[in-house]
Amino acid sequence: QELSAAELERTFIAIKPDGVQRGLISDIIARFEKKGYKLVAIKLVHPTKDFAEKHYDDLKGRPFFNGLTDFLSSGPVVAMVPPPPPSQSMSNHTADPQVWEGQGVIKYGRKFIGATAPLASEPGTIRGDFAISVGRNIIHGSDGPETAKDEIALWFKPEEILSYKKETDKWLY
Ligand code: PPS
Repeated sequence: QELSAAELERTFIAIKPDGVQRGLISDIIARFEKKGYKLVAIKLVHPTKDFAEKHYDDLKGRPFFNGLTDFLSSGPVVAMVPPPPPSQSMSNHTADPQVWEGQGVIKYGRKFIGATAPLASEPGTIRGDFAISVGRNIIHGSDGPETAKDEIALWFKPEEILSYKKETDKWLY
């Protein structure tokens, strides 16, 4: 059964610098992929401090804002959508942002990720299985449809997000 546009959600997932450094990229991607979600964009980016502040704009004024934006801009991040052609590469960016698509992917993505504080995350979640402290919680996921839309627009150009059919779709839906 074909999904309607309203049923097809997109979320923005980033593997933070600690997840990249600790070699967790493939583990994290595998969980979303095996669940059946479709990767429609991905790149490795090293965000500037200024870019990190834009990403966490709604947290300005929180006591951890400076540490959190320092952390996000401390190294490559995997943002999930396909790599831009070299001519358009964001030279000052090395994070790994990603966009995943599928029914319920925003809410389920958050379940996969687990609670903000890794010690409060259930085993079986990404943070529950791989992290200990809140300031090093390895992954970010949009918390709702509006945030997902804004974050995807901040990290990716429209032409970097691909629309394609996967053979497995017909076995999933
Ligand atoms: S809060 O406190 O309700 O706003 O928390 P939450 O919405 O879950 O978290 C927002 C992002 O802030 C990060 N965070 C922290 N970083 C460092 N230190 C502390 N104490 C801290 N508390 C929250 C949290 O990981 C969220 O970032 P993302 O990238 O979305 O996970």
